[in-house]
Amino acid sequence: MTRRLLVTSALPYANGPIHLGHLVEYIQTDIWVRFQRARGHEAHYVCADDAHGTAIMLKAEQNGLAPEQQIANVKAEHERDFAGFGIRFDNYHSTHSDENRALSQQIYTRLRDGLPGADAGSLRAGGHIATRPVRQLFDPEKGLFLADRFIKGDCPKCDAPDQYGDSCEVCSATYAPTELKNPRSTISGATPVEKESLHYFFRLPHFEAMLKDWTRSGALQEEVANKLAEWFEAGLADWDISRDAPYFGFEIPDAPGKYFYVWLDAPIGYMASFRNLCDRAGIDFDAYWREDSEAELYHFIGKDIVYFHALFWPAMLEGAGYRKPSGVFAHGFLTVNGQKMSKSRGTFIMAQTYLQHLNPEYLRYYFAAKLSGRVEDIDLNLEDFTQRVNSDLVGKVVNIASRCAGFISKRFDGQLDADCAEPGLLAEFIAAGDSIAAHYEARDFGRAIREIMALADRANQYIDEKKPWALAKVEGKDAEVQAVCSVGLNLFRQLMTYLAPVLPAMAEASAGFLNIPGFAWEDRRSLLLGQRIQPFQALMTRVDPVAVEAMVGASKDSLTNAQPVAAQAAGKADGKAATDKAVAAKPAADKAAATGDTPAVIGIEDFAKVDLRVARIVSAEHVEGADKLLRLQLDLGDETRQVFSGIKSAYPDPQVLVGRLTVMVANLAPRKMKFGMSEGMVLAAGPGGSDIFLLTPDAGAQPGMAVK
Ligand code: MSP
Ligand code: ZN
Repeated sequence: MTRRLLVTSALPYANGPIHLGHLVEYIQTDIWVRFQRARGHEAHYVCADDAHGTAIMLKAEQNGLAPEQQIANVKAEHERDFAGFGIRFDNYHSTHSDENRALSQQIYTRLRDGLPGADAGSLRAGGHIATRPVRQLFDPEKGLFLADRFIKGDCPKCDAPDQYGDSCEVCSATYAPTELKNPRSTISGATPVEKESLHYFFRLPHFEAMLKDWTRSGALQEEVANKLAEWFEAGLADWDISRDAPYFGFEIPDAPGKYFYVWLDAPIGYMASFRNLCDRAGIDFDAYWREDSEAELYHFIGKDIVYFHALFWPAMLEGAGYRKPSGVFAHGFLTVNGQKMSKSRGTFIMAQTYLQHLNPEYLRYYFAAKLSGRVEDIDLNLEDFTQRVNSDLVGKVVNIASRCAGFISKRFDGQLDADCAEPGLLAEFIAAGDSIAAHYEARDFGRAIREIMALADRANQYIDEKKPWALAKVEGKDAEVQAVCSVGLNLFRQLMTYLAPVLPAMAEASAGFLNIPGFAWEDRRSLLLGQRIQPFQALMTRVDPVAVEAMVGASKDSLTNAQPVAAQAAGKADGKAATDKAVAAKPAADKAAATGDTPAVIGIEDFAKVDLRVARIVSAEHVEGADKLLRLQLDLGDETRQVFSGIKSAYPDPQVLVGRLTVMVANLAPRKMKFGMSEGMVLAAGPGGSDIFLLTPDAGAQPGMAVK
C-alpha cells in the first residue's frame, strides 16, 4: 500500500548560519524521506526559516537592515547550505509569509471562538484564550519589554556580578528577573523599570486529558513520553503567547500592538510551507490536515524543543480542528571529539566551512552510522570519522565495484554475464533488504549500516576467494572471470540500493556506471544480467586527514571575537531566540551561545581609566557552595588582593595556577559577595566552560607592573 507522508524538520532561526549540529537533524530527516520514496511511498518534505522574534529584530537593527532584508539574506544562505549537503526539501518557505499569517490568525481565532457547529464543551468549542496583566521588566531607553536573557545584574543569592535574569552561573540559584540587584538591560545598558501590560494566554491545561491519551498513542519515543509524564505530574500552565510592540511578527487579531510570540506561529510554519507547496503543485492540503486524514504527519526535532512539539502543538491543532502528528521524533545533540562544540577548539563548524574542505557524503554516512531512533547525543569524533568513512565506503563498498568493473569493461566490452553464477548469495543479499528496511523505518540507521557493512564484507570475501585477477591470467577461464565479476557488480548494486538514501550523489554516479535508472528498493529483486555497464569512474575518494585539519583550523580562524569571560554578556544575550524558548518552557539550556557583539569604539582616555596590572597568583582554591568560582590571592608587588573568579570549569585543579603571572583589573570597585570581598578581576579569553584561557605576560614581567 502506498503511504502518504508529510515530513518536516524544525525550522532554523533566521539569525545565524547552519552548523554541523543542525545538520544532524536535516540529514537524519532527508535520509528517512529518501528511504520512504525509494520504497515507493509518496513523501513531501517541507521546512522554512523561523523568522520572527526579538532576537531577529535586534540582529537586523545591528546589521542596519530591515528585518525583511535580514531574513531574506539568511534564507538564501540556509538554502545554499542545505543543498550543499544534499538535503532536498520539496519546499523551503519562511514563517514571515502570507500563508503563515493567514493560518496563524485562523488557528488563534478558532482557539478563541471555537469551530462553527462544535459541540458545546468540546475542545473544538473555543474558550482557550485568556488575557491577564503581567508585570515585567521594561527597558525605558529602548522602549522594549525584556526577556530574562536580556537582563543582567548581581545575583540576589551570592552577589556575583553580571548574572542573567533567570539564573546565576556562579551559585546556580534561579530567581525572577525582578529579584536581580543592580539590574540593567543588555540591549541599552539602561536600568529596567517594572511595567504592566496585558498578555494573551493559551489555556494548555484544557487539553491535559487529550494530551495524556495522545502521549501513549505511539506517536512519541518512550523516553519522550516519560518526560511528558513528568511534566503532567508537575502540572500544565497557561502559555503566554503575546508580546508587545515593537516585535517582529504577526499582530494578534483584535489586539492592536500585541504580537504572536514567535513560538506560536513557528510550528504553524510547517503547515504554511506545505500550503505554499500545495498551491504551486496542486496537492490537496486538506487531505493531509483534516481531522480524519489518513495521511501521516511526522516532525523531526531536537530534544531541546520537545515541549513545544509534544504539548503546545498537538493542543493547538486539536483545538483548531486539525489532525495531530502521527509521530514526533526527537534526536540528541551533537558533540565533537566528545565535547560540546567549541569555537576555540575549532569544533564549532559551520556547514559552509565543512563544504569548503570535505565531501558532504562523508558526513551523511558518519551521522547515519551513529544515529539510532533514540534521544541520545551523538559524537563526531574526527579521527573515527576519517577512519570509518575510509574503511567502510572506500575500502569495502567502492572496492567491490573497482575490483570487478575493469575486467568487464576491458575484456567483455562492458557486458555482464547473462546468467547469475551465485543465485544463493544474491538471494541472501536481497532478503537482507527486509530487515534493513525495518531499521530505516525505525530511524535506527546505525543498525541498518551495520547490516549493510556485514554484507559488504561478505561480498569482498567472495571476490577474495574467487580471485578474478588470478583467473584472468589462466587461459580458458574467461567465462569464469565474467561470471565472478558480474556477481560482484550485482552484489555492489544490492549494497548501493541500501545505501542510496544516505549517499544520494554516490548513488547517482553508481546508477550511471551500472546503466540503471536508480535504486528503487524493489528493483533489486531483478538482477542485472547480460546488460552493458559504463566504464568505471572513482565513486568516492578517501577522506584526507589534512583536509580535516584544515577545516578545524578554518573554524578556529573564523573566531576573531574571542572575548574575555567578563565580556560575554553581549555575546549570549545577543542573538538567539533560544532566549525566548527559555522563557516559555525552560527546557534544558542546550543552545550554543551566539556570536558576540563588537563593543563600541572608545578613546584612549576611556582605556586609561582601567588600571591593568601584572599579578602573581599566590594561592588558588575552590569555594564551598559555589559551582563556578575559584578564590585567588593575587600578589601585586606591594599588596595582596583577594579575587573571586568564575574560571573553575577550566581549572578544576586550582593548584596548577599557583605561581603563575597573570593580568588583573586593579581598580575595579570591590564587591561584597557571600563568600567575602572580591577586590578586582583577572583577565581571561574564551567562551566559557573548559574553554577559558587565563592571560599570562611574557617572562620577565614583575607583579605590580602596569599594563598599558
Ligand atoms: N526555530 C526553532 C525551531 C522551530 S520549529 C517550529 C529552533 N531553531 S534552531 O535553529 O535553534 O534549531 C533548529 C533545529 O536544530 C532544532 O531541532 C535543534 O534541536 C537542532 N539543533 C541545533 N543545534 C543542534 C546541535 N548542536 N545538535 C543537534 N541538533 C541541534 O530551535
Ligand atoms: Zn549566585
